[in-house]
Amino acid sequence: MKALMISSLTGPGALAVQEVPEPVVKAGQTLVRVAAGGLNFADVMTTKGGYPGTPPPPLIAGREFSGIEEPSGRRVMGYAQWAAFAEKTAAYSNMLWPVPDRWSPEQAAAFPVNYFTAYLLYWHAGMTNRAAAGGKYRVLIHAVAGGVGTAAVQIGQLLGVEMYGTSSSDEKLARVKELGLQHGINYKRNDYEDAVKNLTRGEGVDAVFEMLGGEHTAKSLRCLRDFGRVIQYGTATGHAPKLDMRALYAKSASLQGLWLTYLSQKREIMGPAWQQLSEWIGEGKLTPQIGQVFPLDRAKEAYQLLEEGKNYGKVVLKIAG
Ligand SMILES: NC(=O)c1ccc[n+]([C@@H]2O[C@H](COP(=O)([O-])OP(=O)(O)OC[C@H]3O[C@@H](n4cnc5c(N)ncnc54)[C@H](OP(=O)(O)O)[C@@H]3O)[C@@H](O)[C@H]2O)c1
Repeated sequence: MKALMISSLTGPGALAVQEVPEPVVKAGQTLVRVAAGGLNFADVMTTKGGYPGTPPPPLIAGREFSGIEEPSGRRVMGYAQWAAFAEKTAAYSNMLWPVPDRWSPEQAAAFPVNYFTAYLLYWHAGMTNRAAAGGKYRVLIHAVAGGVGTAAVQIGQLLGVEMYGTSSSDEKLARVKELGLQHGINYKRNDYEDAVKNLTRGEGVDAVFEMLGGEHTAKSLRCLRDFGRVIQYGTATGHAPKLDMRALYAKSASLQGLWLTYLSQKREIMGPAWQQLSEWIGEGKLTPQIGQVFPLDRAKEAYQLLEEGKNYGKVVLKIAG
C-alpha cells in the first residue's frame, strides 16, 4: 500500500510517499481503508522530532483520518498517534467515531483532533455547563482561524461565550466572524493584551486558550480577569512558556495544561465529550472548516502551509478516490 513516510527528523522536506506492507491489526484494533487525513500542527512538529510519543523513523505520518472500516463497511473518523496517512491503517476501536451522513470524507478527517481539543478546552475552563455559562463568560482564543480555533468558535457560540480571537490576517478574521467570533484582533497591527483590555473595559477574560508559548503565556496571563485560567495546549512558537507570577498572584489566576494524547485514553472524559459533540452534530450545529485539500503526493506543500501559518481552518490530505 501507499503511505506517507517520515524517513528522518529533518522537517517536512524529508516526507515521501512510499510502498509499504499493509498494517498488522492488533487486539482492540480494526482495519480502516483511509479516504482522507487531517493535518495537525503536531504532524509538522513530528517531522522535526519535536513531538513526544512517536517512535523513531522510519514511520508512517499522520494522526487523524476518515475512511471505511473493514469488514463492517461503516464510515468512520479516527484518532491515532501515527500511521494515519496511508491507504490502510490499523485503528483502535475506541478511537473511532461514526461519520455523520451529510459530511464528506474530508470534513470527517477534520473532526476528531480539533473538536475534542476545543471541547476539552472549554471543559478545562469550566464553561461546558451551558446553563452556568449563560453568556457571562469571555474567552481569548489564539490562532482563532486555525483548525482548533475555528472549532472553538463554533463550540463557544453554542455555549453562549463572548469570544475574542487573534490572527495575523484580516481576511482570516473576517471568515471566522461568519462562524460567530465577536471580536477579531489582528496581532500584526494591534497588541492583543491592549486590545483585550480596551474591549473588556479593563476587566479581562475568564480564560485564554494558549498554544503559542514563549512570552505569550505571560502575556495571556495578563489578559485574565480575577480567578481566570490560561489553558496551555501548545507551543507553536517553539519556545517554552514563560510565566508572569505577578499576574498569577494578583488575580488568583491559574495555568492549566491540556494534551489530547493523554486525555483520549480516559473513557470517563472522552465519553461525555462525544455525547455532547454528537448531539450538536445531530442538530447540524458543527461544520468542520476545510481550508485546503491536497492529494497525498503533494503532502509536503500541505505541511509547509501549516508550518508557515498560512492555513485557514483544517488542511486535509486526500488519500483515496
Ligand atoms: N494539546 C493538544 O492536545 C493539542 C491538540 C491540538 C492542537 N494543539 C496545538 O494547537 C495549536 C493549533 O493546532 P492546529 O493543528 O489547529 O493548527 P492551526 O491553528 O490550524 O495552525 C496554526 C496557526 O497558528 C498561527 N500561528 C501563530 N504563530 C505561529 C507560529 N509561530 N508558527 C505557526 N503558526 C502560528 C497561525 O495562524 P495566524 O496566522 O492566524 O496566527 C497558523 O495558521 C498548535 O500549537 C498545536 O500543537 C494541541
